[in-house]
Amino acid sequence: MIVPGSSSQLLAAALAEETGRPSATPTYDRFPDGETLAAVPRFEGNEATIVAATDSDAAWVELLQLQDAVREAGATDVTTVVPYMGYARQDESFGDGEPVSARAMARAVSTGTDRVVLVNPHERGVADFYDVPVEVVDAASVLADPLPALDDPLFLAPDEGAAAIATTVRDAYGAGETDYFEKRRDRDTGAVEVSPSDAPVADRDVVVVDDIIATGSTMSESVGVLNERGAARVVAACVHPMLAANAVTKLRAAGVDRIVGSDTIERGCSVVSAAPVLADALE
Ligand code: R5P
Repeated sequence: MIVPGSSSQLLAAALAEETGRPSATPTYDRFPDGETLAAVPRFEGNEATIVAATDSDAAWVELLQLQDAVREAGATDVTTVVPYMGYARQDESFGDGEPVSARAMARAVSTGTDRVVLVNPHERGVADFYDVPVEVVDAASVLADPLPALDDPLFLAPDEGAAAIATTVRDAYGAGETDYFEKRRDRDTGAVEVSPSDAPVADRDVVVVDDIIATGSTMSESVGVLNERGAARVVAACVHPMLAANAVTKLRAAGVDRIVGSDTIERGCSVVSAAPVLADALE
């Protein structure tokens, strides 16, 4: 039984389709004091696969409730698919007295599930914070599907950490070079600076590939630099299109040709589904 969190309804539906599993219809309510109430009607069978991106604090609370609710509804075998794991970038204590937030969240989720599936967590190491078995899935390959026909393409990561997924997208696309920028972020202001690599970009189509577009600072900086250097078209591709605040506006101002994201976070630019990759992982 696929059990969708309210933030992952499209992905959960696509996953139910891919796997041929039935889908539960949870209800979501909110009390006058702001507390949430996610409930799951009783269902046949003892297996439940919850699919819930934790892209907000409310989504984390809802996920914990869904885990408890499926047990109440009869499940004895619970899998928790977290298509986008929020707080994964707080994977260490960055200052005196600061929490390792990813660990706190992982521990909480571990109490209500038999296993966890994560899609492109910010750092692979966050999987170790869970107290139950974790499978990490790389969905970057699906980003090649919606790309237009590209001229002499370059698949570029905005930092070395994203170089592997840029290569994954290039391999799935079937042609092109890969490279990465050097990136520096000012922790106080959040401002990002990227240093261009040596790869020539003039008159080429460039796909900038990252795991996430959050504030859009990294991506818009990269897009701007590439346009200044004469790239033909610059496409922004990411697994997790968080697109917080004015990220889209910043990308448009930098001259992005299009934004391509998956449905691990459901946004207007979620033009491709991670469901086929997740279905393989759940087999
Ligand atoms: C950083 O290491 C990540 O791969 C992303 O580049 C980063 O989290 C994107 O954040 P933002 O959109 O806020 O620049």
